[in-house]
Amino acid sequence: MGYSELEKIKQSAFKEIGEVLDMKSLELWRIKYLGRKGKLTQVLRSLKSLSDSQKREIGPQANSLKKKLEELFTQKNQSFKTSHNQRSSFDISIPGKKITLGHLHPLTKTEQKIREIFLSMGFSIVTGPEIESEYYNFDALNIPPNHPARDMWNTFWLKTQINADQNADKRGNISVNQRKNPHKSALLLRTHTSPVQIRYMETHQPPFQIIVPGRVFRYEATDASHEINFYQVEGLMVGKDISLANFKFIIEEFLKKLFGNKVQFRFRPSYFPFVEPGLEVDIKINQKSKIKNQNLGWLEVMGAGMVHPRVFEAVHYNPRDWQGFAFGLGLERIAMIQYNIPDIRLFYSSDLRFIRQF
Ligand code: PHE
Repeated sequence: MGYSELEKIKQSAFKEIGEVLDMKSLELWRIKYLGRKGKLTQVLRSLKSLSDSQKREIGPQANSLKKKLEELFTQKNQSFKTSHNQRSSFDISIPGKKITLGHLHPLTKTEQKIREIFLSMGFSIVTGPEIESEYYNFDALNIPPNHPARDMWNTFWLKTQINADQNADKRGNISVNQRKNPHKSALLLRTHTSPVQIRYMETHQPPFQIIVPGRVFRYEATDASHEINFYQVEGLMVGKDISLANFKFIIEEFLKKLFGNKVQFRFRPSYFPFVEPGLEVDIKINQKSKIKNQNLGWLEVMGAGMVHPRVFEAVHYNPRDWQGFAFGLGLERIAMIQYNIPDIRLFYSSDLRFIRQF
């Protein structure tokens, strides 16, 4: 028994603990060196039978080796415990936390798609104010005061002094020039995007082609296909010899790009004061309605026509020089067909069960 004995124990203990990979072999290691019959324990026990001088020499060394081995044991033990804890908290069978992501509203998606299609056909995108003057919303579009056509647009009028005056005046005693003046004209929430036609033509010269997406307002009772506010996309193309044939081509391209080549559509004569001739475009839906008994046959998706000469006159274009077509499509109608949505009010219900489906 001596120094070299201790050294051997130390070396093999160090080497073996390096090879210990789990709790079980760590325990075996402990027993082998530090257990009651362990190698080091035996050395320590045998110190008793040594002479005093040997005790003094070997004792402290044996004790410090014991301390060292105990430290190694605790360290290793600790590292197993923590990694065991980590492993148990990473249980791959526990369902993960779902990270909820927002997404675009179905109307926004439809609008973006429409923008894309018209951009690809060389149209530019223009916008205008939602609070509009009577002049732009009506007069300049060939809808004079007291004209029965005004009934086509149930209007939200704003409470302004001029509105009050005009009402007192039974409306209409004010001249067009006065109404064109924003300080004199009555204000309203625009009932369609057509006023932006006028605003654009006042500041630009043809030829051009634009679309105008935007929110519009109508004072009416709501039902499955009517809302008090909804979206339109206005279109306007003016040039030297733009004809209804150009309109037909553009709209056919648009509908095919949006609904696929098999889309069925038809043009039907109609009336709007700012176009002549005027027409409406219907498309045929082949899907089943989600509402019982509702016939989803032909659905009207836009009003359109050739720009009326009076409209060109209002913006000082010579109607003999310029021709153009205009259209206004209902965004919700398009989205309802695209996504098979039975009720326009769902778009504005803020009901997450609805919104999350898109
Ligand atoms: N502004 C019309 C409406 O809101 C639609 C339309 C636009 C019709 C352009 C003809 C030309 O009903």
